Amino acid sequence: MTRIAIFASGRGSNFDSIQTAIQTGKLDAQIVALICDQPGAPVLEKARGAGVPPLLIEVNRALPANERRGEHEARILAALAPLDVRFLVMAGYMRVLTPRLIDAFRSERGYSRIVNIHPSLLPSFAGLSGYAQAFEHGVKVTGATVHLVEHEVDSGPICAQESFSIEDCVDVASVEKRGLAIEHRLFPETLKWVLPEQFSYRPLNFSLPKDSTIRGSRVCKN
Ligand code: GRF
Repeated sequence: MTRIAIFASGRGSNFDSIQTAIQTGKLDAQIVALICDQPGAPVLEKARGAGVPPLLIEVNRALPANERRGEHEARILAALAPLDVRFLVMAGYMRVLTPRLIDAFRSERGYSRIVNIHPSLLPSFAGLSGYAQAFEHGVKVTGATVHLVEHEVDSGPICAQESFSIEDCVDVASVEKRGLAIEHRLFPETLKWVLPEQFSYRPLNFSLPKDSTIRGSRVCKN
């Protein structure tokens, strides 16, 4: 059983889908903590209801802007230290992680033991509001991506992707509804082989344009 900490900032529907997969025996993991940065986020109640200790760790806005992230993450690392966590699972955590936190969870094989779900087919529509970006660009197909976390935002090796048509969607809400239904299946299914690290990891050595956000490594399910 893999010990995980889920990071989330808001609604927590992905938290629910992971928790349900564990409860119904589909995923061999234990959620040892829920880390949340937003007071009042619905996910805090969801964690309590599921018997998962919610840890509300807020950013200290009294600090100078350039010190906030580091200090915030130092408190997160201190909270995680006694919990013997193997993997961090980002499920709607709306903060960018620093290299320090990412490297604290780096495996001997070189990848980080931090997994994230992103609401687009990366590397398209990285950043905030992936479903809104896709709708506003008028693309016909979008999707969801599960990937390992790397230093650049939304850039780490891709574990799984699923696409869906949005040609008939009339607004962002309908894109999101379709996307979330996929996320809630894709994330637990992917965690099933990612958490026990049943994958090959191959850093690639090809030259990409300097500004490319692709990290040049592949994760493939064994
Ligand atoms: C999801 O769309 C996820 O892909 C993105 O943030 C959203 C979180 O939703 N990273 P929820 O809080 O899990 O309901």
